[in-house]
Amino acid sequence: MNPFRSQPSILPDEAHKTEAVRTMFDAIAPRYELVNRVMTFGLDTRWRKRCLDSLGIATGSRVLDLASGTGDLTRSLILRGFDVVSADLSFGMLHAGHDMAATVQADASRLPFDTGSFDGLVCGYALRNFTDLALCVAEMGRIVRPGGRIALLDVAEPKSKLMKTGYDLWFRRCVPVIGGLLSDASAYQYLPESTIYLPEPKSFRALLHEHRFSGVNHHMLSGGLSQLYTATRTS
Ligand SMILES: C[S@@+](CC[C@H](N)C(=O)[O-])C[C@H]1O[C@@H](n2cnc3c(N)ncnc32)[C@H](O)[C@@H]1O
Repeated sequence: MNPFRSQPSILPDEAHKTEAVRTMFDAIAPRYELVNRVMTFGLDTRWRKRCLDSLGIATGSRVLDLASGTGDLTRSLILRGFDVVSADLSFGMLHAGHDMAATVQADASRLPFDTGSFDGLVCGYALRNFTDLALCVAEMGRIVRPGGRIALLDVAEPKSKLMKTGYDLWFRRCVPVIGGLLSDASAYQYLPESTIYLPEPKSFRALLHEHRFSGVNHHMLSGGLSQLYTATRTS
């Protein structure tokens, strides 16, 4: 038995997940970016840079930052010269962010954008929060134009025993305490538990293919602390 999993699960059931996720992010929005930097020792900025570096579309292209939160990726995209729209479920997260892009409060499973209206899409640390991942990937396939690119970043769990022990100690024991001091303990207990929602690479690749993405690449970052998918929308 994994001792770090001995606490009761705080994961919401499917019927209540969207509302629970929205409420949680509304609550932690003011200190979201600070806690990110602290709990990853600033590594998340490196992972975000890798995500944007791998998007591979021309400067000036129209990009959707899906589940943009407070706009960490949005701001970097704007600095790189992209025309950015950011969309998120949580008004609190959008409101806490810097006002540097067109922002839309929307659910990733029902996006208020025209078919083929974006050249690219990025999504940072949100896949595991979606209630119906297949519907959200279908929406990505609809709104990204043929030839457009996506880069999807999320957490992961390291495979090596040593890294996994360190990961469990830090993310399951320390981060909820630090999160509690700086923000909200239960939200930062949800974080490591919610990795269970992420599909295995093989099935996520299949889902991307099903929704008209090809050339799927999957990379584990920093020994498996984060993972990145990139793909191209087929013609
Ligand atoms: C961990 S935060 C990531 C925020 C930002 N992308 C980043 O990289 O810092 C996850 C975000 O996903 C958003 N989210 C969760 N479910 C969503 C949904 N169904 N549709 C749109 N956004 C959603 C949350 O509101 C939250 O802002």
